[in-house]
Amino acid sequence: MSKNLNAVITGVGMYVPETVLDNKYFESIIETNDEWIVSRTGIKERRKLENGATSDLATGAIKDLFASTGVKPEEIDCIIVCTVTPDMLFPATACLVQNNVGAVNAWGFDLSAACSGFLFGFQVGASLIESGTYKKVVVIGADKMSSIVDYTDRNTCILFGDAAAAVLLEPTEDKSIGLKDSILRVDGSGREALNMRGGGSYMPPSHETVDNKLHYIYQDGKAVFKVAVVGMADTSYEIMKKNNLAPEDVKYLVPHQANLRIIDATANRMGIGREKVMINIDKYGNTTAATIPLCLVEYYRAGKIKKGDNLVLAAFGAGFTWGASWYTWGID
Ligand code: UT7
Repeated sequence: MSKNLNAVITGVGMYVPETVLDNKYFESIIETNDEWIVSRTGIKERRKLENGATSDLATGAIKDLFASTGVKPEEIDCIIVCTVTPDMLFPATACLVQNNVGAVNAWGFDLSAACSGFLFGFQVGASLIESGTYKKVVVIGADKMSSIVDYTDRNTCILFGDAAAAVLLEPTEDKSIGLKDSILRVDGSGREALNMRGGGSYMPPSHETVDNKLHYIYQDGKAVFKVAVVGMADTSYEIMKKNNLAPEDVKYLVPHQANLRIIDATANRMGIGREKVMINIDKYGNTTAATIPLCLVEYYRAGKIKKGDNLVLAAFGAGFTWGASWYTWGID
């Protein structure tokens, strides 16, 4: 279906908390070592929010967006917070962020798609713009993963960090820029491999759920690794093929930062080298919904993305959820 409007990112913002947990810290609390963590994941350090919740991370990111663009809170039509660590089951974190920044004309909601959250939120936000209904939509990827990490479980605790990053989407009639295409998938048969079972309607909180550590992330790392490699690589390749993008047409792969080995496998399948891959997993670890927008903010602010650059965004996460999007950068 042809569109009259494309959705383009016109501003970005990010927030990472100050506390740094490096690999040495984990050597002091669990049986692990820096060499294992770096070689198996690519992670050197990650951030932890000491006080506050996901809405505080998200608020930091949207405030940074306002400060760097001059856009005012009252101009925002809709706020989408992509997260699996909402402050509460309800109200939505988006409502708390709206109130924190005084976005008095906005509506909003939370979107739960784990590590694919931003990719899914980006498509939803872009659709609101492309329909012509809204003019300024903010999509935020925000997760306080430290709130659901079991720091005695060496299989998971070394992986995750806290962060938030935001993009502002606006309409453009220029079809050469903006979100061009997405291939998005879910497969709920993956629920056993990566989840947090306690606290919802399936297993409401009880002494038993706490005793059995069901309010923490559970991940069968090896099983997730296998499907993540295939899912991210396949959809990234598929989106290139579908849109006749050759490797030389792609300026950057913007992958979810879960594991450097999954990222490399995706780049290989796309036929592109490491120099064309956005990477900051070494600094932040896996920040779930925040990884992709965090990469975009850092690379854009470092002057590494220019108007007209083709990006392939790709993610894989709990659900399972996964996908890839073709986006052409639209601002200098
Ligand atoms: O973001 C959402 C989607 N998630 C992902 O994409 C994550 C996918 N999975 C992964 O990235 C990897 O599976 C992990 C990084 C989580 C684990 O790497 P792995 O190479 O799959 O390791 P493994 O789980 O197969 O464990 C290998 C060995 C085990 O020891 P044995 O059984 O071989 O003796 C583990 O007990 O490494 C051990 N191990 C550790 N050793 C030192 C596990 N965690 C650690 C640790 N330090 N922190």
